[in-house]
Amino acid sequence: MTKLSITINGQPHGPTDVRDDLSMNDFLREYLGMTGTKFGCGAAQCLSCAIIVDNPDGTSYTSPTCVTPAVSFDGKAIRTVEGHVKNDELSVLQKAFIAHFAFQCGYCTAGFLNEGQVLLERLARAPVKRAELEQTVADALDGHLCRCTGYVKYHEAVLDVILADSKRYLVANQ
Ligand code: FES
Ligand code: FES
Repeated sequence: MTKLSITINGQPHGPTDVRDDLSMNDFLREYLGMTGTKFGCGAAQCLSCAIIVDNPDGTSYTSPTCVTPAVSFDGKAIRTVEGHVKNDELSVLQKAFIAHFAFQCGYCTAGFLNEGQVLLERLARAPVKRAELEQTVADALDGHLCRCTGYVKYHEAVLDVILADSKRYLVANQ
């Protein structure tokens, strides 16, 4: 057993005694009842289970939770799909997913949402040229599998959010 202390969606949790082989997915779902993080392939192949990990320098990245031990997140700050709503309001990206009817069964949605959010925050720090945008979005969402094959709508939703706020996310006049 190891003690796990973690910040999730801005809230501290722990220290909690967890088995060293307990996955982060099981910790979220079984210990905390946070079932928004899904379990798909269980083999780090589909990324339906991806969460956001926040670095101290303000950058972030996604991580699968199905094969990742919970204890490896000790001392870290993470965000899950439950953290996107602020003051009872859906995020801009969540609204875009709904507007595009980007999901079908919804199993992969949390992973796409987390990846899209990481991309938005990255572009806000380091905007790209308009000509590079489609490829940038495709590269960011690459690796997320959707068994319902909803890829185009997820891509369009993320693109829409970026283009609607191009001063923030794109290099000016390029
Ligand atoms: S469930 Fe984790 S990558 Fe598929
Ligand atoms: S919406 Fe069903 S797996 Fe993507």
